[in-house]
Formats: sequence, C-alpha cells, structure tokens
Amino acid sequence: MRILVVGGGGREHAIVWALKKSEKVKEIFCAPGNAGIAQLAECVPIAVNKFDELVQFAKDAAIDLVFIGPDDPLAEGIVDAFEAHNIPVYGPSKAAAEIEGSKIFMKNLLKKYNIPTAKYETFTDYESASAYLRQQEVPIVIKADGLAAGKGVTVAYSMEEAERALREAMVDKVFGEAGNQIVIEEFLEGQEMSILAFVDGETVRAMVPAQDHKPVFDNDKGPNTGGMGTYTPLPHIPQSIVEESIENIIIPTAKAMVSEGRPFRGVLFAGLMITKDGPKTIEFNARMGDPETQVVLPRLETELVDIVLASINGRLDQLDIVWSDEAAVCVIVASEGYPAAYPKGRVITGLDAAAAQGALVFHAGTADKDGSIVTNGGRVLGVVGRGRDIAEARNRAYEAVSVIHFDGMHNRTDIAAKALKGLQ
Ligand code: AMP
Ligand code: GLY
Repeated sequence: MRILVVGGGGREHAIVWALKKSEKVKEIFCAPGNAGIAQLAECVPIAVNKFDELVQFAKDAAIDLVFIGPDDPLAEGIVDAFEAHNIPVYGPSKAAAEIEGSKIFMKNLLKKYNIPTAKYETFTDYESASAYLRQQEVPIVIKADGLAAGKGVTVAYSMEEAERALREAMVDKVFGEAGNQIVIEEFLEGQEMSILAFVDGETVRAMVPAQDHKPVFDNDKGPNTGGMGTYTPLPHIPQSIVEESIENIIIPTAKAMVSEGRPFRGVLFAGLMITKDGPKTIEFNARMGDPETQVVLPRLETELVDIVLASINGRLDQLDIVWSDEAAVCVIVASEGYPAAYPKGRVITGLDAAAAQGALVFHAGTADKDGSIVTNGGRVLGVVGRGRDIAEARNRAYEAVSVIHFDGMHNRTDIAAKALKGLQ
C-alpha cells in the first residue's frame, strides 16, 4: 500500500512510525512532514489546508489510503474533499469534526443526550457574557468557541482574570473568529485523563488511557500549551473509572453523533475530568492527541493500518485490538518562549545518542538546514521512554532528554510525577 499522512508534527511522526511497522505498507508520503518524518517517509511540500493540491498529489502518486493528523483541515472538510474523489481517507467528515471545531456544538450535544459535562452558558455578545460572569464564583472557565491551537481556554482563579480573558476573546479578538462566541463553564476539580478511541459510527474501540500536562512550567504553572508531556498507563486511576468513562461518555457520544446524522469515523478523543461525582467531559477532539499519540501508539500491538482499513470498510466491530502492558512517558522539548513567540533555526544535537539509548524521538517542529536538524516550532521534540512501569519509562525519557541539546531548550521536569506519587 501507498499511504499519504497529512500533517507535520510529533503526532504525525508517531503515526508514520506506527504505520510503517506493517509489511502491507510499501511507501509512506507525508505532507508537509518534518525532518524526523523524512527519515521514514517521503515528505511532500504541500500545506495541510491546500486540499486541491493534496487530492491531486494523491491521484498522481496512486495513493491507496490517506490518514489525516491535525484538527484544522478536518474542521475545514478535508475528508469530504478526498471522498469527493473516491480516495480512501481516514478521519471524520466536516460535519462530524464539528464536535471539536465548535465547543458550543459539543456542549449542546452532550446536554441534549445527557452525557456528563461541566454546566455552562454560551454567549455571542460581550455585554451579556460580562453581566453573567459577574454573578458567578471563581474559579470559572472561559472558552473561545472555535479552534485556537489549544490556547482558547482560561481557567480563571480570580474575577479579574476571568474578566480579562473574556475581554481578550470577545473584544480584543486575540483568537480571531474563534472568539465570536464563547462558553462560560463551571470549574471541574479532579484528575484529568485522555481517552482516545477508534470510532466507526456506533462502534467504539478505546485506546489505553493517557494523561497530558498542558501548562508550560513544572507544577502546572504558566500558560496552557498544546501539551508538554504525556504518559500511559495511569496507575493511580482505577480501571473501573476508565470503563465508566467509555460506557457513560464515549459510547453515548458516538451514538449521539449517529442520531444527529453526523456519524463519526476516525479517532474520537475525550478529555475528561474525574470529579467526585464521576468522570465528566472537558472536551472532545476529532483526531489523535498530540502528545498523547506519542505514548499510546508505542503500546499498540495490532497493526495501525489494519485498524484504519477495518474502519474504512465498516468492519471495526470485528477487530480485537491488542495493547502491550508496558509504560511509556513522553517529555516535550520546546523552544524558549513557547507558547508565545519563539526563535527558530537553532541546531539540535544528541538525537542519535538519545535514539541509541532506546528512546523514541518524535520530531514536532524541526527542519533540515544544510544537513543539520534545526528547531522550527514551539514544540520541537517528543522524547519517549518505555519500560515495565512508569518509573522506568520516565527515567529513560529523562536520560534521553539529558543528551539532547539546542540553545534555549525547555522541558518540564515533572512529567508523570503525579503517577509516581499517586497524588490526586
Ligand atoms: P481544553 O482546551 O478544553 O482541553 O482545555 C484546556 C485545559 O483547561 C484542560 O486540559 C483543563 O486542564 C482545563 N479545563 C478546561 N475546562 C475545564 C473545566 N471546566 N474545569 C477545570 N479545568 C478545565
Ligand atoms: N494534547 C492535547 C491535544 O492534542 O489536544
């Protein structure tokens, strides 16, 4: 088979790596890819939003299957664009991807089908949002409706902070159109958990759970990012809670999407908070997580390509998916300044030494410049250690990080620390 993967981050590097394990897969192309992906696949310089060019490339290169990584093109209908040309493609349609593209759509869906989530109100004008906000108590959560690269959510611990977040989204438009409508929602307290699931209509095959670390600095300080590190499994979260989340949240949501005439095919990703009243939904994403993918796929023993083909052919319900018992920890190595402005073009050393230790080094924002691998994004690398348990995997991830260098590199030092301490 010849496969085209669309995207160019750490998630797509892990997807390409997993697809490549199959003997069925003869060649992989990746648009646009990055310097790490280029070691496994042929990178094609087409941006993820250039649907016509991507479709043309898929035709010219006789691509058998397209796998879409990122959220933006899904929200804009990339799957519909390939399907219109009868090119097999894995990912949700534009209508189904709205579960991520509009938080208001998602919240209204969950309310209609009684699926557990935080209480909320939605607003389209600043005056009424602001009046409502002043009657609430802190902490409170302000969310831009549309996609904002993981940065459209403010958990405000003071009214001043909440008012500022509201003003920035609705008046200053720091997230552009994504802030035209906003959600003000109840603060949920508890442990976070991400469950990704392969979904085809009503069929749900959940992956192993993972936990992300969103704020940029240790002890969850600083602004939220796309994710600074992940780990799996979650030894401090009982399996019964994982099952409850799948039964009460993910399966009912897949069914609700079918009832709404928007059947979901692809990876549905539930961001959950385990509250004292049980698991509740924080968000849904219509794609694999980044960097959840980097720890989840290394535990996948069934071939990824078989799962994708089964989904596309409506046979996902006949497939048993097997996961290893090993642990995996991913530490994101970022550029100084991220998630605000950051420099690019800094030479990265130690990648081979890290790989020689057995770590998986997934590239997120890298480029090849005159034969050197240089930084080219906010999140630069996802360094994954694997082991019999979290402690071993974590040590291996941090040992590998310690041999990698570029000027101004930054990583959190407490990824998976909560799991080790068994802390709430
Ligand atoms: P999101 O982009 O919706 O995943 O939100 C980013 C982060 O904000 C989440 O991972 C949570 O840590 C936090 N968050 C979002 N909604 C809530 C909520 N209702 N209560 C507490 N924390 C939240
Ligand atoms: N790591 C969170 C996300 O992919 O949205």
